[in-house]
Amino acid sequence: MTKIKREILLNPGPATTTDTVKYAQVCPDICPREKEFGELMEWICTELSLMAGKPDRIETVLFGGSGTAADEVMISSCIPDNGKLLIIDNGAYGDRFAKIASVYKLNFEVYKSSGFEPLDIDKIKAKLIEGKFTHFAIVYHETTTGLLNPAPELCRFCHEHGITTIIDAVSAFSAIPIDMDKDCFDFMASTSNKNIQGMAGVGFVFCRKEALEKTAGYPMRNYYLNLWDQYSYFKKTKQTRFTPPVQTMYALRQAILETKQEGIENRYARYSSCWEELVKSIKKIGLTMLVPQEIQSKLITAIIEPDTPNYSFDALHDLAKSKSFTIYPGKLSNANTFRIANIGDIQPEEMTAFTVILEDYMRSIGVVK
Ligand SMILES: Cc1ncc(COP(=O)(O)O)c(C=O)c1O
Repeated sequence: MTKIKREILLNPGPATTTDTVKYAQVCPDICPREKEFGELMEWICTELSLMAGKPDRIETVLFGGSGTAADEVMISSCIPDNGKLLIIDNGAYGDRFAKIASVYKLNFEVYKSSGFEPLDIDKIKAKLIEGKFTHFAIVYHETTTGLLNPAPELCRFCHEHGITTIIDAVSAFSAIPIDMDKDCFDFMASTSNKNIQGMAGVGFVFCRKEALEKTAGYPMRNYYLNLWDQYSYFKKTKQTRFTPPVQTMYALRQAILETKQEGIENRYARYSSCWEELVKSIKKIGLTMLVPQEIQSKLITAIIEPDTPNYSFDALHDLAKSKSFTIYPGKLSNANTFRIANIGDIQPEEMTAFTVILEDYMRSIGVVK
């Protein structure tokens, strides 16, 4: 196996992958309607379900598409016409949930909160009850800022009050340990190209079985992204209704094998060690993190840009890129930030190597003396 040039992606996905995942895509041509391919997808569903809960409790439904497709599947398929949805918006992805709900003209309200302060849990609980909401949607890890929302606590409250829960775990799954039964997540979205360390192209929706069964009679608001249709067709045929991303599925199988080998808790520990290297350097340079350390995910860090005209994100990006590190701009309209993610196939010593570049750059513009 020829080694592929190593590029370290410090953007929040698609994440850096191993060469074995990359090479898994190089395989004999196969018609995805063949039994063998159906068995591959069934294996992928079973293994993903096992990472999200106990055997026989969770069904995973695959779609060709990105994380947003998986989010749109949940919002469009999991709420009946007489339902009422509360969406938590404390970042770009909560806002995206609301945009999707508005496209489908659902009955919903948005609870807005700052992107860098903890949610007011009591206020949300009161709103859920007073507003007689039937459904609740939240982003577990807001990748916009790196804030980790208390999704399990809020969802447990929802279940005590008969409210169905919808979670965007696109950038949380396969790093933050999740048990959908214990955490009271009914529907949860993620994707093949973030912490699972596969290639982009497969969106997955995890469903608690009882919650999924209830959606059978819900209105079909779109065609491609319908959860029940995709689930029931796959159950009968072991085929997706439409052409799946064939080679991406082979890469996903390899990524799942590698995730099992490492273990999700160990993976999160590795990611956390990379984050600690980064935080050490941020403090040494004297930069400020947008989100208080204790409510961060340890998966991505939003850093406030230094207040000097000498600073240029593009210059920092280009310097890092010339040394095979890709960094990411901020995504907030009210704060100038840049973001460093630490997910994917990266090691703490690689993060340390990046921090040397960061410190050199900050020295070159006079931020570090
Ligand atoms: C929390 C979260 N939700 C949804 C998405 C959207 O995923 P995609 O860009 O794959 O559509 C992202 C992407 O970064 C994300 O971080």
